[in-house]
Amino acid sequence: MARRWSEQRRRDPFYRAAQREGLRSRAAFKLLELNERYRFLRPGDRVLDLGASPGGWSLVALEAVGPAGSVVSVDVRAFAPLEGGRFVRGRVGDPTLRARLGDAPFQVVLSDMSPTISGAYSTDHARSVELVRQAFLLAREVLRPRGTFVAKVFQGDLLEGLRQELAPDFHQLVVTKPKASRETSSEMYLIGRGLRRRTGPAVGAPSPEQGPAVAGTATDIPPAGRPGNPR
Ligand SMILES: C[S@@+](CC[C@H](N)C(=O)[O-])C[C@H]1O[C@@H](n2cnc3c(N)ncnc32)[C@H](O)[C@@H]1O
Repeated sequence: MARRWSEQRRRDPFYRAAQREGLRSRAAFKLLELNERYRFLRPGDRVLDLGASPGGWSLVALEAVGPAGSVVSVDVRAFAPLEGGRFVRGRVGDPTLRARLGDAPFQVVLSDMSPTISGAYSTDHARSVELVRQAFLLAREVLRPRGTFVAKVFQGDLLEGLRQELAPDFHQLVVTKPKASRETSSEMYLIGRGLRRRTGPAVGAPSPEQGPAVAGTATDIPPAGRPGNPR
């Protein structure tokens, strides 16, 4: 089993390219691809990267925001420092984490957090949905209005409910799967753009002034740079 997995990995073009290009993780390609399409990382942005170890997404974010921007990476597991980045060791969901992140707001909050895989599909799916909720609770506190939230989630029967919970908080919300994500993987990415201001306390509880949300599949969202892109 382990041998088959390492053989598959060796043959995986994204894994080999990540090694060749010093990208720290295969996952880096997923963010590169998502950002190429939706253009949410911009020079000068302040980015919070949740579940950042071993640093693949943070490295991509650092390069995208450039010297005028900054990236704060959070994980329960430490990783080799990234030049120009700041690492905060902590668990998303811990109420003391917010105070250790430094100044808000951020323009972008990323979450590539994965639960520890139990092997029981519905359990792993439910845990993954819960991690998105935790990430969004934090994002709600530190993201500036009109900011972008990107989060990985495992597909399953709770996904549609989660999408409906988050949709009212954004001008646009898409659920998409980058090509760099293995077809056999159940992971999907939620991209919420244009965080709406709101006063209500609960995640996803729509406030009356928000009006209807535009939400749906990746095709609902115009490519970056065209009118309608909220950031
Ligand atoms: C798939 S890895 C992230 C890979 C990373 N984006 C990259 O490109 O290198 C998922 C990470 O989520 C972290 N994680 C899971 N739950 C977490 C939590 N509640 N708080 C912080 N990190 C968490 C794990 O420790 C793990 O390092």
